[in-house]
Amino acid sequence: MELLRIKQLSKVYGGKLAYRALTDISLSIEKGEFVGIMGPSGSGKTTLLQLVATIDSPTTGEILINGSNPHLLGKNKLARFRRRELGFVFQDFNLLNTLTVLENIVLPLTLDGERADVMTKKAEAIAEKLGIAEVLNKRTYEISGGQAQRAAIARAIIHEPSLLCADEPTGNLDSKSARAVMELLARLNAEEAATMMLVTHDALAASYCQRVIFIKDGELFNELHRGESRQAFFQSIIDVLSLMGGGAHDLSSIRV
Ligand SMILES: Nc1ncnc2c1ncn2[C@@H]1O[C@H](COP(=O)(O)OP(=O)(O)OP(=O)(O)O)[C@@H](O)[C@H]1O
Ligand SMILES: [Mg+2]
Repeated sequence: MELLRIKQLSKVYGGKLAYRALTDISLSIEKGEFVGIMGPSGSGKTTLLQLVATIDSPTTGEILINGSNPHLLGKNKLARFRRRELGFVFQDFNLLNTLTVLENIVLPLTLDGERADVMTKKAEAIAEKLGIAEVLNKRTYEISGGQAQRAAIARAIIHEPSLLCADEPTGNLDSKSARAVMELLARLNAEEAATMMLVTHDALAASYCQRVIFIKDGELFNELHRGESRQAFFQSIIDVLSLMGGGAHDLSSIRV
């Protein structure tokens, strides 16, 4: 079943100098798929994710999530749609530092008026799964980057969104934490059939996806499907990146 369909999407940023960030992007993502988006810096990855995540609006073209176009919704309905159907993970975690980890994780449910004991139970179950149960009552500045990112992931999935959008979720992590976060996302995808769209410049992170879509200069460039081996997929990703001129030589020393 198709979860996301993008039809001839273009984005031109306004301002004194109009800038065309995306041109005629068409793609679709099946329910339960784990898809990576890669491309050189400035190629339009974040722009694409923000359009899908309804954080920004397309200039032309259409985005359908579960068959409906969220960009046509009014402000309140859009806010509800975003809260119920979408989850976001950002590079800089975006946790609120006045709240505890637990309070951060239950935030999406708070906004939907869920009962406190129900929220806490759900948060504890997810925290257990993500290995952050012991830091639930800490403030966000009292935990490590890896723990903060896992807390952000917990917050993004606690309401079981149809689509999880992650922009460089491993960008601020050391390689061990990055690998743990990717293994976690892959497991969530496999066990909960969560559909995920992951923007990354890291070929190792991308190798955990089932499919990687490459964009260059705002246009679709290529697409790779993972076969049996993640190692082989990693190598193919590196090959496409070097073909694109994405600075792949920087990555070739990474151990898979
Ligand atoms: N709000 C904005 N106004 C004008 N131009 C923008 C805006 N946001 C992004 N751009 C431009 O659009 C292009 C695509 O930006 P985008 O952030 O999508 O790139 P990216 O692929 O995510 O890059 P990176 O890997 O560096 O994060 C860039 O040239 C950028 O300068
Ligand atoms: Mg970006």
